[in-house]
Amino acid sequence: MAIDRDTNPRSAGDRALGLVRRALDRRDGLDRIVSASLPGRMSLAEKCLANLTALLAKDEGGLSADTMVCLRALSPDDFRRDLEYLLGAVHGPEPTSTDKGKDEDRIAAETHNSPWWVSYCIRTFGRGRALKLLSNCWRPRYVRLNTLRTNGDSALPRQLKGLQDVLEVVPSLSGVYRVSKSPPSLSGLLSSGLLQFQDLASYCAVVAAGPVPDESVLDFCAAPGAKTAALAQLMSNSGEIVSVDYSFPRMRGWMREMRRLGVHIASPLIGDVTRLGLTRQYELVLLDPPCSGTGIIDRNPQMKWRLTQESVTRYSQLQTRMLEEAYRLLSPTGRILYSTCSMTLEENEQVISAFVEAHPEMETRTLPLDSNLGSPGMNGLGNCRRFYPYLDKTAGYFIARLERV
Ligand SMILES: C[S@@+](CC[C@H](N)C(=O)[O-])C[C@H]1O[C@@H](n2cnc3c(N)ncnc32)[C@H](O)[C@@H]1O
Repeated sequence: MAIDRDTNPRSAGDRALGLVRRALDRRDGLDRIVSASLPGRMSLAEKCLANLTALLAKDEGGLSADTMVCLRALSPDDFRRDLEYLLGAVHGPEPTSTDKGKDEDRIAAETHNSPWWVSYCIRTFGRGRALKLLSNCWRPRYVRLNTLRTNGDSALPRQLKGLQDVLEVVPSLSGVYRVSKSPPSLSGLLSSGLLQFQDLASYCAVVAAGPVPDESVLDFCAAPGAKTAALAQLMSNSGEIVSVDYSFPRMRGWMREMRRLGVHIASPLIGDVTRLGLTRQYELVLLDPPCSGTGIIDRNPQMKWRLTQESVTRYSQLQTRMLEEAYRLLSPTGRILYSTCSMTLEENEQVISAFVEAHPEMETRTLPLDSNLGSPGMNGLGNCRRFYPYLDKTAGYFIARLERV
């Protein structure tokens, strides 16, 4: 691919972001190519440029003269000689991984994942499903029509009529559209609050919670607010939502989102969910805790290089503590909705099973969702729902609803 001088800032930006994502996604292979030619230490800027050079040479079918001019222009002065050497070397055969012997190591090298995560997926999901999961298939983006900006009307408003061939209706979830092609700019519709980008599975979690007008809702781990806004919509902006998150910058984004989307019933509370000291009880507690993000690796590929069994265990422990706090603040007739964008058992089924075992008066309930959305949970938790990117074309997701027996 030649780096052409794209004058459309949106598509140039999208392509640049795509390159960064791919460079992060394939970091293991690119590191191997670069270190075979330049084994010494490099600054971060030099390393990024070297990996970009390898990516463009190997993945995009070679370096055009134009591309090389651009790469040279990006080079720090004292890296020029190394870059020239790399530009020559990347045309040679790719160095092979030193540990291609074992099947799992070979899959790791081919799918650009750590051997640990490959073994985990094969052990947990079986080889066939693991291979599909690890190969990171493409998934579409989804938008939700924000009926708080249409006086409750769920028909496609006039402003969106021209987008009918781009917005594909999602059967069984009214008001949610799959963005099927590269759409014309949606920025006007987004800034007026008519639309909100939200993954289908994330919206399903809110629908599964079954919020209704005039309820009291505690929204744990709320920023940047996608679920808060969907809750407010399903509650017709009537009732009360208290949205808690400990990140001040992320809650600033949450406030902007609430203004943009016309949400009037949510109030922010900045604090640590595990140490809030609240006493009042709520009819619905929605808990969307921090997680390993193994269901959204395609959108955030650097995560997979940080992932370890220890980090998954740490998330699982934190999620368990947060679920206990959700339970403490639940009214006697209330319900908890637990969701993550993780694929691991430790952060999903194991958290829920341990909770139900510790609180025999609580049980998982069937989700009020169309049966074609997602698959049953694992480890006997058939009432919960999992979403697999390769099957559902959504983020990898887990949803559980807990109520008193
Ligand atoms: C998965 S994101 C939440 C996404 C959000 N529910 C939405 O739909 O837009 C997890 C959030 O948990 C917050 N968080 C992590 N640890 C926390 C803690 N101990 N107390 C409160 N918030 C926490 C993070 O700041 C992050 O915003």
